[in-house]
Amino acid sequence: MADVILKHVGKLFKSKKSGEDVWAVKDFNLEIKDKEFCVFVGPSGCGKTTTLRMVAGLEDATEGEIYIGDVLVNNMQPKDRNIAMVFQNYALYPHMTVFNNMAFGLKLRGMPKKEIKQRVEEAAEILEITHLLNRKPKALSGGQRQRVAVGRAIVRRPKVFLFDEPLSNLDAKLRVEMRTQLKKIHKTLEATIIYVTHDQIEAMTMGDQIVIMKDGLIQQIADPITLYDKPNNKFVAGFIGTPPMNFVECLVVKRGKEIYLDEGKISLQVNSPISDMLEKCVDTKVIFGIRPEDIYDKFFARSIPGCCPVKLKVDLIEPMGNEVYVHLTTGQNLLLARLDSHVKAEVEKDLEVVFNMNKIHIFDAETNKTII
Ligand SMILES: Nc1ncnc2c1ncn2[C@@H]1O[C@H](COP(=O)(O)OP(=O)(O)OP(=O)(O)O)[C@@H](O)[C@H]1O
Ligand SMILES: [Mg+2]
Repeated sequence: MADVILKHVGKLFKSKKSGEDVWAVKDFNLEIKDKEFCVFVGPSGCGKTTTLRMVAGLEDATEGEIYIGDVLVNNMQPKDRNIAMVFQNYALYPHMTVFNNMAFGLKLRGMPKKEIKQRVEEAAEILEITHLLNRKPKALSGGQRQRVAVGRAIVRRPKVFLFDEPLSNLDAKLRVEMRTQLKKIHKTLEATIIYVTHDQIEAMTMGDQIVIMKDGLIQQIADPITLYDKPNNKFVAGFIGTPPMNFVECLVVKRGKEIYLDEGKISLQVNSPISDMLEKCVDTKVIFGIRPEDIYDKFFARSIPGCCPVKLKVDLIEPMGNEVYVHLTTGQNLLLARLDSHVKAEVEKDLEVVFNMNKIHIFDAETNKTII
């Protein structure tokens, strides 16, 4: 398999009609190690597909260098790059059996029949579709068709697999199943994979390394836990995690020796060492961030040090079974808390909650960059 390296890669689309030029991808720098599962994630239009297509050679890079293995591939034809791509709309040939759909590309390359058979059977076994080899696509479920599309890529034994939102046509349950299966296949094949999705849960559960993109720019490259615990900016903090992080604009104030985050209606005392780091922000506005799981019902949180108790009005309650999402209002901001399902919360009544002030995030109100 192979390392994939992108150096200062950019893509400019020139529109013939409007004359408007769009940088779909800008200054994209990334190193993907051999056998790594790398995920590109970000909102629609952020440049994921464009980047993948440049790696595949289906789109020329306007600037920068792309290496597969040690080879600069900018000027290499897609067919010579030894990559296989699986798209969201994986068109299978309807008149061919699963076997022939998987074998087709190899036949075109003139591979001997015996070897084709061996490769297709091996891939079918990995994907658990051996019993379907003689069926036509119309007699398959969505998930089975998806596996055939993956099989078509596997039989090629490429250096790098490129997946562009391959699970987005499947229902929620099937997506979870296929997610697990693709992870297993990755292990079995010891393949280098670049996987595009706009679903942050898919990214978190599948990726060794995740590239978060927005407006053609990389926001952060990290493993899932680092992204969750140490986001580079407010965008990453809000993109990763469900339900998302709460953000509240606050003024940093100093009263005596203590530092507080003043929201207007509520004031939260900050402890050392975070308070020391906030000294430089006194009298400035910042964005205070706290994840829903870092707000507890006071009754259950007595033993946690460094917690700040607050009384907030309950706006809405969403029972999830194992837990409950409680929407709280300060009077001017809404905050969501993930609480134990036994919490005694009532809409329109006050609830005493505590904020785990050791887990807070602080962002610059102007640049949205992480301060803490
Ligand atoms: N052929 C093209 N000509 C002009 N602009 C294009 C072209 N292809 C893509 N773009 C623009 O480039 C940007 C990035 O598009 P891209 O398809 O890479 O986004 P994406 O992250 O894959 O989004 P999605 O999640 O919706 O698939 C968008 O603004 C898009 O409109
Ligand atoms: Mg796309």
